[in-house]
Amino acid sequence: EKVPLKLAVNGKSYKLSVEPRVTLLDLLREQMHLTGTKKGCDYGQCGACTVHIDGKRVNSCLVLAVMQDGREITTIEGLAKGDDLHPMQEAFIKNDGFQCGYCTPGQIMSAVACIREGKANSETEIKEFMSGNICRCGAYPNIVSAIQEVKN
Ligand code: FES
Repeated sequence: EKVPLKLAVNGKSYKLSVEPRVTLLDLLREQMHLTGTKKGCDYGQCGACTVHIDGKRVNSCLVLAVMQDGREITTIEGLAKGDDLHPMQEAFIKNDGFQCGYCTPGQIMSAVACIREGKANSETEIKEFMSGNICRCGAYPNIVSAIQEVKN
């Protein structure tokens, strides 16, 4: 049986009706058609599904949608302001921070959180913070460069 859920996603308020077992990731992708957030592993191992909940990064495959009542969710779709990309998106492009791009939305959401949470003070600190975001293409050095560029 579906239950009511109020959420703000990327600055817009929604009144939804969801099944209690649905993850935030599936709600975003399947019910709200926000497919920028990716499903890699669906069990907390890859970081492709990273979003912000009330400004903190979370693996959206690990949390139930119904637990987010009243919260504010930001996805990759919410970072750009109209035609202006977020500085982190610009930096990923400039530094070649991706190849296939599948992990990129999650990488960027984590990268934004990395700076916001003050964990971008050294290469080691950045690598540590970003260690939950896996990239099969091995774009790691360029991702670190992108974060350092935005930080400085
Ligand atoms: Fe959520 Fe991999 S899909 S961590």
